[in-house]
Amino acid sequence: MKTPFIYGIAAEKMYFTDREKETKRLLLNFENGLNTIIVSPRRWGKTSLVNKVAELMKENQQIRIVRMDIFSVRTQEDFYRMFATEIIRQTATRTEEWLENTKRFLSSLVPVVTMSTDPMNPVSFSLKSVMPDYGEEVLTLPERIAKEKEIHLIICIDEFQQIGELSNSITFQKKLRSVWQHQHSVSYCLYGSKRHLLMNMFGKRSYPFYKFGDMLFLERIPLEYWYEYIQSRFEQNGKHIDTRFVDDIYTYVDGNSSYVQQLSWLVWARTENEVNEGIMAEAKQDLLLQSHSLFMEQINSLSSYQLRFIRAIMSGKTIEIYRKEIIEEFELGSSANIATIKKALQKKELIEIEGKNIYFSDPIFIHWLRQYNISLI
Ligand SMILES: Nc1ncnc2c1ncn2[C@@H]1O[C@H](COP(=O)(O)OP(=O)(O)OP(=O)(O)O)[C@@H](O)[C@H]1O
Ligand SMILES: [Mg+2]
Repeated sequence: MKTPFIYGIAAEKMYFTDREKETKRLLLNFENGLNTIIVSPRRWGKTSLVNKVAELMKENQQIRIVRMDIFSVRTQEDFYRMFATEIIRQTATRTEEWLENTKRFLSSLVPVVTMSTDPMNPVSFSLKSVMPDYGEEVLTLPERIAKEKEIHLIICIDEFQQIGELSNSITFQKKLRSVWQHQHSVSYCLYGSKRHLLMNMFGKRSYPFYKFGDMLFLERIPLEYWYEYIQSRFEQNGKHIDTRFVDDIYTYVDGNSSYVQQLSWLVWARTENEVNEGIMAEAKQDLLLQSHSLFMEQINSLSSYQLRFIRAIMSGKTIEIYRKEIIEEFELGSSANIATIKKALQKKELIEIEGKNIYFSDPIFIHWLRQYNISLI
């Protein structure tokens, strides 16, 4: 029997719901060669959306989609190697063709081919650099392949904010943009979950990637879609979940797609016939428990100021955080100090800042803080 809910991997096929507007828009951008930037908080469904559109375009012979995740990239060289490898690997299917294309298009790089025992991925292919200055050759690779094959290439790069973390990043970004913007047979879809880093890269006039493409801000999947999704899965197995409990799941996790699925699963697994208050409470408890050690670790890494700032957010005083009385009440030092605390917590990925609003990146963090009554000095 198939599991009714999934989380932790991209949602596809029967596990994919809604994203109708976003699918249409991304499809249109892909078909018309427009660059797209997708931004959303963690685990809302960026990867799933891009995969879905890629799947819909599978039959289109004129357009080829290349996907890569640069989360592990730490240097410019790592990026070039991954970029070149994935483009070569995903624009051809046979090993001989990979080798041939590498020789033809990347004369300064040496391909390394290894046979593995993994039946899903019998041949692994990667590139080893031999010359230090191969950037230009690698960056123009997609355009040259696309022209020769008479196709349009769409390069999708997940966790793109990683580029902003490399050394000499601005110079590197300038280089990428200057090459990419002249390519007519290639477009780019760049996405990631570190909103503040991506907004710096794409939303600031002084940065090289300013106005590089259509900005798509993913929103929560609306509750209406989850009624159908969750209730039908309970019914299929002779179980029942009342609408108010679906509301409860959605509200508790603040509409985060991944947590909606995870909490639904925890409720489903405990339900024999019908969901009740007791089951809901236990499932929520279980959800918090699963993050307990991670949250504990995060809390332990914070300074007293940072802990007190978290207390201020918990009390809902974020808009007035710079007011003298609030600074005194929570012992936050000074306004300058608050700016430092905010930056540090944002870097630790504990909080998100949107205008004057400050909220916890993880929607269940606040439940955990309350539940375990963590003392925040
Ligand atoms: N369209 C969808 N329908 C149903 N569930 C979804 C959908 N999109 C995402 N999810 C749920 O959210 C989880 C995370 O999805 P996905 O990996 O696509 O998000 P992401 O934004 O790319 O995450 P990350 O920030 O970690 O890169 C999935 O495992 C699934 O449980
Ligand atoms: Mg993702």
